[in-house]
Parts: sequence; structure tokens; C-alpha cells
Amino acid sequence: MTEIPEHLLKRSRERRAAIGQGGDGGADAAASSDGASSSAPAKAASTAPAAAPASTGPAARTAAAAPEAPKPPKPDPAYVVAAKQRRKVPWWAMATLSLMPVWGFMYVRALTESTAVEEGPIGIGAEMYGNCSSCHGGAGGGGLGYAFTGGEVLETFPNIEDQIRYVYYGTEGYNLEGIEIYGNPDREGGPHITGARNVMPAFGGQLTGYEILGVVCHERYTLGGADADSDEYAAEFAEWCSAESPVFHALEDGEFDLTDDEVEPFVNAEGETFEITPIGSAPVPGTP
Ligand code: HEC
Repeated sequence: MTEIPEHLLKRSRERRAAIGQGGDGGADAAASSDGASSSAPAKAASTAPAAAPASTGPAARTAAAAPEAPKPPKPDPAYVVAAKQRRKVPWWAMATLSLMPVWGFMYVRALTESTAVEEGPIGIGAEMYGNCSSCHGGAGGGGLGYAFTGGEVLETFPNIEDQIRYVYYGTEGYNLEGIEIYGNPDREGGPHITGARNVMPAFGGQLTGYEILGVVCHERYTLGGADADSDEYAAEFAEWCSAESPVFHALEDGEFDLTDDEVEPFVNAEGETFEITPIGSAPVPGTP
């Protein structure tokens, strides 16, 4: 049980004294100070037994008890006093605090959005790169396979079509066709020759056409360092790797397949048509 602090007891005693109630003479003090209200029952108590002693037993008892009814206000228990004295949250802060669930919601949303990948080829490519990282490194730094970073992959494949084709058919596909140079034949330090390093798996059939395009975009732009805003790559990026890429969407919608030997021209966001080199139904030598 909570002990009532001494100062409160003292305050209570002082209060009782102030309203005329002594520590012990509580009942009569209340009767005298509470004049009108308590004198009537008091009279009733004195007269009732005389008037009807037999039948009014209970009435007499109530009447007799009545004078004790008006009790001094009880001192607040310690916890109420504490609650009253505690500093309250100011009203203006309530408005701020009441918004906290909203902020919490926005915060969580912000976190989920930042972890959610970008839309379009670059975003899909980042996901698909999980198929490549074991040999090419999580950041494209190379391993069993070549590095993509520092523009290396762009040196091998000045044309994105050649890279897509290589990822589609892999070392084996090129070997079967007897094609050695899958990338730029004029590459600095000599062209990359298929099978020279090890076996690059064929991803055609393992990944869909738009997934292969996506992972190639990831290798060129995210890992390889191609600048989507530069004169050299702006057009390629808009046509192949942007979220609005008409080639990506045509692949996604099944309007054409990477292995089609003939491809209709595409229309870009400005309404201009452009043509692509078909990836085709078999590997062909890389181009400068
Ligand atoms: C099993 C290991 C392995 C995996 C997995 C792998 N590669 Fe390769 N990759 C290689 C090897 C080895 C080469 C070199 C090929 C050769 O010597 O014939 C290569 C070469 C390449 C090249 C040519 C690079 C250049 O500059 O010559 C590209 C592009 C490429 N890989 C893309 C990918 C993509 C995209 C993926 C995932 C979808 C992937 N690779 C997964 C092993 C791998």
C-alpha cells in the first residue's frame, strides 16, 4: 500500500481545522458548521424515537446516522497529487504528436521505396545481375569472367546489340559457329576472343529477352560507367535502357523476339523512328 506522505497528512489536518473539524470531534463539529442541512436530521433523530418508537426503528437509525454524512473532502491520494503536479504535454505539441503515426507511415514508405529497384531495364537488370555476379563480381570488377567496370565492357562492345547477342549465345554458341571475335575487332590491346578465358554460359532461354536487355543495360550503365547524358550514349540509353525504352517494352510485350532476323523500326519518345541491328537467330562477328 502507498503510504500517505507526512506533509499531506499535515495538510489534511490543517484543512480539517480550518473548516472547524477537530481531529476527534468530527461529527459534532460538522453538525454545527453545517447548520441548516445537518440540524434537521439531528432534530429528527431526537424527536423520532419519542413519536414512534416501535414502528420507526430503521428511520431512527438512518436519521441518527445522517449527521455523520457530510464528510470533509478526502485529501487526494499521492498518485493523484503527482498527476496534477506533473508537467502536461502542451496543447500545441498535441497537434505535432498526433501527426506522428502519419510520419511513421511516410518514413516506412520512404524506406521501402528506396530499396525497391528502379523501374525499367536498369532496375530489372540489377535484379538479374545475380546470375552474373559469381563470375563477374558483385560490382562488376571481374573474376572468372572479364570486368565491366571502368568502361571495359564498352571497349569490347561499342554496339549494344553485340553484347546482347553474346550474352544470349555465350561461348558455346560462338564456338559452334566458329566465330572468335564476339566484340570490337579493333579493341585496344587486341579483341576478346571467345573461349580464351573460360566459358561464358548462354543466357538465351534462361532469361527472357527483356531480362537479358536489362542485365546488359546494368552492365553498361550502372557497372561499366556509360554516361546516359553524354553525346555518345544518350541515344542508346533512350532507345534501349531508359524506363521508356521502346525496345525494352516491345520485348516485354512480346511484340518481337531477340532471335527474330528481321526487326521493324521503332519509334522513340520524340516520335522519330530508329532501327536496330537484329540480334538474330545465330551468333555473328562483333562490330567496331
Ligand atoms: C560461370 C561464370 C560466368 C557467369 C555466371 C557469367 N559469365 Fe559472363 N563471362 C564469363 C567468362 C569466362 C567470360 C569470357 C568468355 C570467354 O573467354 O569466352 C565472360 C564474358 C562476358 C562478357 C564479355 C566481356 C568482355 O569484355 O569480353 C559479357 C558481356 C558477359 N560475360 C556478360 C555476362 C552476363 C550478363 C552474365 C549474367 C547474366 C554473365 N556474364 C554470367 C563467365 C561467366
